[in-house]
Amino acid sequence: MDAEENLKSRKFTSKKFGKNFTWGVSVAAYQIEGAHDLHDKKPSIWDTFTSKKGVIHQDHHAKKSCDFYHNYEEDILLLKKMNIPNFRFSLSWSRILPDGIGQISESGIAYYNRIIDFCLKNEITPWVTLYHWDLPQALEDKGGWTNRAIVSWFEYYTTVCAEHFGDRVKNWMILNEPMVFTGAGYFLGVHAPGKKGLSNFLPAVHHATLCQALGGRIIRKLVTNAFIGTTFSCSYITPINKKYKNVQAAKRVDAMLNRLFIEPSLGMDYPYKTVPILKKIQKYMLPSDVENMIFDFDFIGIQNYTREVVKHSYFVPYLGVKIVEAPKRNVDTTLMNWEVYPKSIYKMIKKFNAYEGVNKIFITENGAAFKDAVIDGKVNDVERRNFFINYLQQVYKAKKKGLKIDGYFVWTLMDNFEWAEGYHPRFGLIHVDFKTQKRTVKESGKWFSKFLKPD
Ligand code: BGC
Repeated sequence: MDAEENLKSRKFTSKKFGKNFTWGVSVAAYQIEGAHDLHDKKPSIWDTFTSKKGVIHQDHHAKKSCDFYHNYEEDILLLKKMNIPNFRFSLSWSRILPDGIGQISESGIAYYNRIIDFCLKNEITPWVTLYHWDLPQALEDKGGWTNRAIVSWFEYYTTVCAEHFGDRVKNWMILNEPMVFTGAGYFLGVHAPGKKGLSNFLPAVHHATLCQALGGRIIRKLVTNAFIGTTFSCSYITPINKKYKNVQAAKRVDAMLNRLFIEPSLGMDYPYKTVPILKKIQKYMLPSDVENMIFDFDFIGIQNYTREVVKHSYFVPYLGVKIVEAPKRNVDTTLMNWEVYPKSIYKMIKKFNAYEGVNKIFITENGAAFKDAVIDGKVNDVERRNFFINYLQQVYKAKKKGLKIDGYFVWTLMDNFEWAEGYHPRFGLIHVDFKTQKRTVKESGKWFSKFLKPD
């Protein structure tokens, strides 16, 4: 049944997933808050990165963005009106600890208290991500994720958050997509802080892996009844054909994109066998690290958008693989040039479900950017609505087959700052006019509300 037909039948609703299934939307501090230098807040690496010329689409920045800092009441009320019971947002480290360590900002703490309290008052459950990529610049000046001292900086930051918010916030995620912030930020240099090469990437990966587990341990110790997870980006990887070297290439990409951060947390260490170059990471490891990378997460958050098709290439250093981009494959794509491939989400649930030691799985992000236009006060984003229906059918298939799948969060509540792509791609259920800050619930948003509460 295709999405259109499904919509007609109206039988496909959240009810099918049972009443214990968790539904929500996700956002991230830097992408929505604005108020980049209000009160005590000092720059994060994204404030610095976006101030450079030519690194972001049309030199966009997020000084104001959706101005969620000031509009949070209106936005949370919209969430409530849309029947969305869970709100995943991240904390800005440099709003809470302007220098990354040391002095706590009372205004930063007060701001997140206001958000948490307003959510609870409106019966919306907060799901907090500790780190969604906006490292305090003061820490980057000391090497950021490449400096092993980040383990103690992160310990301090996590402790402060747990002590201030842990009485009311019970659902915690330690990191958002470590592969993306280390890969794009410390290997390719296309995200903040713009560092490149293996000598930045490998220590950043290792320190992120240590923080991922340590963060879990701290929340476990300090927050009563905490439900603790962390999130991973993941894509279904397929070789371009069945040739041996392409199949091997696909395995290497799969190890890097899908296995690199979860396996050490399960006590399996890094996937050296599949990607031998990873052995170089041992230079940054102490003997007790293999043990310290382990944490028994209550849940794993997987974030899936697309699949990747890959082939072997002699010319690409280290991995020897090339991604065959979607526009070259004559397939449906989103505005990010990502293939629309609903089966990917099923494959990923299945993959993570197969690990012994994974307790529960939540889709903590899934969504799509399409060209949206406001016409007569409406955004008729049929493509996005169909995207959700088709991906959700795959999530449902996983559930029906008895795989562990306990919740689903849309990326994202409202259009916002899409990192290196600026404001060009819009992913929201709500359209934002960035000049006037006007919010317009898109047709996909209206569909989601009905899907959640069909009667
Ligand atoms: C990130 C989000 C981002 C989204 C769409 C994820 O990688 O967690 O911050 O906006 O994908 O690109």
